[in-house]
Amino acid sequence: MQEFLNKIICGDCIEVLGDVGEPFADLIFADPPFNIGYKYDKYYDKVKKKNYVAWTKEWMSICKKVLKPHGSFYIAIGDDYAANVKVIADELGLVMRNWIIWHYTFGQQMKRKFARSHTHILYFVRDKSQFVFNDDRVRIISDRQNLYRDKRANPDGKMPDDVWNEYPRLCGTFKERTDFPCQMPESLLARIIRVSSNEGDWVLDPFSGSGTTAVVAHKLNRTYTGIEISEKYVEESGRRIRQSEGLPVEGEGLPKWPEHADRELKWLYHENKVADGQLRTNKMLLSLFTTKLNDRLNKTQQYTPDEVTDRLEQLRKAGKLGALRGERIRSP
Ligand SMILES: C[S@@+](CC[C@H](N)C(=O)[O-])C[C@H]1O[C@@H](n2cnc3c(N)ncnc32)[C@H](O)[C@@H]1O
Repeated sequence: MQEFLNKIICGDCIEVLGDVGEPFADLIFADPPFNIGYKYDKYYDKVKKKNYVAWTKEWMSICKKVLKPHGSFYIAIGDDYAANVKVIADELGLVMRNWIIWHYTFGQQMKRKFARSHTHILYFVRDKSQFVFNDDRVRIISDRQNLYRDKRANPDGKMPDDVWNEYPRLCGTFKERTDFPCQMPESLLARIIRVSSNEGDWVLDPFSGSGTTAVVAHKLNRTYTGIEISEKYVEESGRRIRQSEGLPVEGEGLPKWPEHADRELKWLYHENKVADGQLRTNKMLLSLFTTKLNDRLNKTQQYTPDEVTDRLEQLRKAGKLGALRGERIRSP
């Protein structure tokens, strides 16, 4: 299996994984083409329905074979085939844990029907009682803690719902966007990787595309394998992984807010939907927020509450924080 370690392999996932004799993946995230006519470099995305379903069954079976007994399997899929994926998963004996709806902003506008603004993410495990689920890594601040300041609130916050609306689809102006047509947001992958794997675990993406899963797995200290049929995308994702290393410039030491700390701060801010003004006036909320940030940074970097609010203000002034969902950015 050494040849799979921290690699994006160019090939057809069914062929590449078909040769593997033993389960190795702790977590699989699969975001296959949805058969809706997307233009990919090396894949034709509009085949007959029955062929698409048969193909789906084939790659899902092979993925299940390489998934470790305690492993988790997430599949992103569009409306047209979500039900087929669930039926196939049942046939394969996978156990469903959540049917997640990723509700994104920037949905494509329609004239004659409602704009589509969601993708399904089906979350399965192999064993109904043995799997990794690190709830403490993904909890968010609850309304009880934030709005009502209720002392009975769980101090660790609450689990996010199964409708995820805090991750916008990547549009052309986003910094992390590559030239790839349907790139997933890194922050969404980070939630999945954090909750369903531990550091050092092996994360597999059989439809690697621009390499988002590999990049995030790498940033979160997991081992990764991506498989992608297009040579061009493999090259691009290799570049993306190298750029994500985030090593400090030699001789300069770590900056006060290295890229990974800023990234976590922004993700946490958007996941919790708490405005920085609110944090300044609510000490309890700020302390919870700071603890969550420090936990996520896992001792690589630790901040005080004042440093957190100052940094949020700096990022906002620099236009790097982005608007919270539903928030209007006031012009100066
Ligand atoms: C929806 S995209 C994945 C996007 C990815 N999640 C990201 O964030 O960049 C699906 C990818 O699967 C690739 N693909 C299609 N058939 C494949 C196969 N049989 N084996 C491996 N990759 C394949 C396509 O080239 C495309 O890049």
